[in-house]
Amino acid sequence: MDRNLVMNLARVTEAAALHSAKYLGRGDKNAADQAAVDAMRAMFDTVDIKGTVVIGEGEIDEAPMLYIGEEIGTRNDGNLEVDIAVDPLDGTTAISKGMPDAISVVAVAPKGCLLHAPDMYMNKIAVGSKAAGKVSIEYPIEKNLEILTEVLNKEMSDITVVMLDRPRHEELANRVRKCGARIRFIQDGDVLGAISTCFDHVSGDILVGSGGAPEGVLAAVALKCLGGQLEGQLLPRNEEEINRCEKMGVSCDKIYGIDDLVKGDEAAFSATGVSHGELLGGVNFIGKNIASTETLVLRQETGTVRFIKAIHYLDKKPEYAK
Ligand code: FBP
Repeated sequence: MDRNLVMNLARVTEAAALHSAKYLGRGDKNAADQAAVDAMRAMFDTVDIKGTVVIGEGEIDEAPMLYIGEEIGTRNDGNLEVDIAVDPLDGTTAISKGMPDAISVVAVAPKGCLLHAPDMYMNKIAVGSKAAGKVSIEYPIEKNLEILTEVLNKEMSDITVVMLDRPRHEELANRVRKCGARIRFIQDGDVLGAISTCFDHVSGDILVGSGGAPEGVLAAVALKCLGGQLEGQLLPRNEEEINRCEKMGVSCDKIYGIDDLVKGDEAAFSATGVSHGELLGGVNFIGKNIASTETLVLRQETGTVRFIKAIHYLDKKPEYAK
């Protein structure tokens, strides 16, 4: 994947973050999401790719933009054909309530390399590089936690489990507590939750529990770039969702490993903080028409991890000059 294309992904998520951050705490998640979508779509059309959205805002009849199958990019002759996964605003509720950990996120891989995950729940397990290949979604949580104490050389009481704070995770949380491990509950945003297992300066040794399947593919790209592990199993809740899996050619029984979710070794990832988080600061409006962003950019081929802090002069950006 072209190294300059990877840097352009930062511009895409920065634009979505800058526009949606205006809605922090304003109680309007749809407006925040729409602002992110519009900005991301416009920025993508300046990028030299022949892109197809494989994970997006929904089916063509559900979403006016960034729908699954939509073709984006400048689409010039010779441009690389790529699969694109987007979540212009992961954490719409978080933004509307003025809460932390909302991000704008995209992942790109050569055509045919990203799993076309349906919009339903997925059971997930994610760990960083030290524990990669050691834990399994098929093991009981107790066994995975024991393994973590060994490979991370930590006491059980120092192991931190990340999970979405949802009633459906109550039993899982009780089992973790019985083992004596810590839990960092997140209100939203399990892409960031999964990524946090790869950075020592952010608390989280393992992410478990169910969240969105599209978010699972996005997180898998990041973890593949970072040498971590992510496994997922789709959790259809009814006949309609089972049919949707069949239609999309994905299996509800299969455990998808990271190489099934993201094939090859040329993926790239960018996430920009919208509201403040432990890993990425949110958009900060510093002064009139000046704002700062923090972005994580990952390139699988080289393994480069970039944290980009940027200051934006909004009156000099064409998309703000409307
Ligand atoms: P949205 O911003 O699309 O609402 O997603 C936020 C999120 O927290 C995801 O990160 C997560 O995968 C999913 O919602 C979990 O779903 P639910 O809120 O239904 O438990």
